[in-house]
Amino acid sequence: MRTDTKTGLVTGGGSGIGRATSHVLAERGHHVIVADMNIDAADRVVAEIEHAGGVASSHQVNVCNDEEVESLFARIRDEFGGLDSAVNNAGITGPIGSIEDFDLGAAQTIFDIDIIAVFVCLQQELKIMLEQGSGSIVNLSSIWGLTAGANYAAYTSAKHGVSGLTRAAALETARTGIRVNALCPGFTVTPMLTDQGLKLKPGTPEFDDVGAMHPMGRLGDPEEMAQTISWLLSEEASFVTGHLMSVDGGFVAQ
Ligand SMILES: NC(=O)c1ccc[n+]([C@@H]2O[C@H](COP(=O)([O-])OP(=O)(O)OC[C@H]3O[C@@H](n4cnc5c(N)ncnc54)[C@H](O)[C@@H]3O)[C@@H](O)[C@H]2O)c1
Repeated sequence: MRTDTKTGLVTGGGSGIGRATSHVLAERGHHVIVADMNIDAADRVVAEIEHAGGVASSHQVNVCNDEEVESLFARIRDEFGGLDSAVNNAGITGPIGSIEDFDLGAAQTIFDIDIIAVFVCLQQELKIMLEQGSGSIVNLSSIWGLTAGANYAAYTSAKHGVSGLTRAAALETARTGIRVNALCPGFTVTPMLTDQGLKLKPGTPEFDDVGAMHPMGRLGDPEEMAQTISWLLSEEASFVTGHLMSVDGGFVAQ
């Protein structure tokens, strides 16, 4: 049975942009399903949301595992009876390096998580939303889904895939009551940035150099991403679909 509370899914909701987005969606009246392969992180975010007076449930899922993805969406159908908002956010940067030396196993992992799994989750979300005749989806692309980063070829390719997938899905669903958009963040201070890839630690010259690559002279904050994702999902963006929205301090304007 559906209730007045909206249901929102955030993959990779246990950390960084996904965590901030889970909080904002809960503040805006969603029962948030915080889905992450790291169940401890997802449980922590649920506890934070509940502490703040919101409603959330955790779900352990590796978005690359088809059976686990199916059981996530079976739960969404059975327990929540539908899905209003979905954020396909789980992703990795992977190692940084030139194409000729790039480890093919690492490239495959990046493609599996950053584009194939987004396609698989999107497919499940659309099946539910087409049945109910409504819904809104935001996929996490990147500035590297609009332009290219040297030494990020696999990630750049995957994120361009997310951008194309978003536009294709928006066209297919434009007359169905469903909207599909993508967020394209600039470098944003999350564990992905500090622990993966360049391993940029705040306070170091390298961190400041990456901030300076953005015309506004700094890196992004997960909260800034979450607010924009929430807007794209909301009725305030009712005529917005197929949009690749950069939130990047002017990075792609250069
Ligand atoms: N941080 C940035 O600078 C930046 C810039 C542009 C785009 N993005 C994109 O934003 C999204 C979120 O990034 P973030 O910086 O918040 O990262 P993060 O590492 O802080 O969080 C990612 C979350 O995804 C989860 N996850 C990873 N692989 C998973 C899998 N296979 N199944 C389920 N969960 C999985 C992790 O456990 C983690 O909780 C990613 O798609 C990323 O590519 C980030």
